[in-house]
Amino acid sequence: MSKVGTSIDEAVEILKRGGLVAIPTETVYGLGANALNKSAVLKVFAAKKRPSFDPLIVHSTKDKIFNWAKTVPEKARILADAIWPGPLTLILTKTDDIPYEVTSGLDTVGLRVPNHPLALQLLERLDFPLSAPSANPFAYISPTTAQHVFDSLKDEIDYILNGGESQIGIESTIIAFDKEIPTVYRLGGLSIEDIEKVIGHVQVQINTSSNPKTPGSAKMHYAPLKPMFLVDDFSQIEDDATTAYITFHENLDIENQRQFSLSTKGDYYEAAARLYALLRELDESDFRRIVAKRLPEESLGRAINDRLQRASARYIKND
Ligand code: TXA
Ligand code: MG
Repeated sequence: MSKVGTSIDEAVEILKRGGLVAIPTETVYGLGANALNKSAVLKVFAAKKRPSFDPLIVHSTKDKIFNWAKTVPEKARILADAIWPGPLTLILTKTDDIPYEVTSGLDTVGLRVPNHPLALQLLERLDFPLSAPSANPFAYISPTTAQHVFDSLKDEIDYILNGGESQIGIESTIIAFDKEIPTVYRLGGLSIEDIEKVIGHVQVQINTSSNPKTPGSAKMHYAPLKPMFLVDDFSQIEDDATTAYITFHENLDIENQRQFSLSTKGDYYEAAARLYALLRELDESDFRRIVAKRLPEESLGRAINDRLQRASARYIKND
């Protein structure tokens, strides 16, 4: 069973011998392993029951991270300088040191510098980068506390580094630079507006196919186990006493115990930080189904809608 604690020494020791350590980040907790050690990387896939075609993100500190990229386009460097450490993953051409086990056979690698003091202290101490997918079983809700990680992966991980609640609460924004206009492949904790302030226009290309050509874009993801629906308007739903409602900030004309606001003050960042813990809480509750209403498509509202959409994908018809 995993030990939970705050010892960097212990984490370093385990990672050096090829073990698995869950690490706190500002987005979600990651399941860390030595990215240069193939057998450690394979343990990550096994622990998560993750399909081998879904590549991992590689983490390090700002001064070391580009050691694992063959070339860094100018816009990538400018964006990294402005945002890292932060909720941003760059897709770049990998160096030969990064095994294909990490990238699922791709010649590109996702690189990120997380913004969390414990994670950064740990990464400072290592002479290898950490491959770290979100520390949840494949397709389940990502963890934003050490307890979430413990609940679902305690038998698979050697150590869980406890860094409190993730401040951003949804995964990093993923962006690639292989086309003339940079392409966002995953909406996340860094808004499109904030990216465009730094490097100008970007295009958003989110794959929601159930048979993804782009790795890691499985339609059903981040999903609770009970029925969940995403709507534009709650009048689309026939109400009953076993339904829980997720709203952004509005107050519905039903009992308070059945409505869950992501942010009463209408703050997108507060909403993102609360999202996954709320989905877990409702999944474990006695409610029979969850109904969420789409947020406005701006700021982190876009990424939150993307996660709500995937969380409810099992139950969306004609898609
Ligand atoms: O915020 C985050 O990014 C968190 C924390 C732990 O850093 N990590 C995370 O990892 O969300 P994960 O494994 O749940 O998602 C990684 C996704 C893959 O599913 C895939 O979509 C994308 O990153 N990815 C990784 N490498 C890629 C590559 N070379 N090309 C395209 N997409 C890639
Ligand atoms: Mg994930």
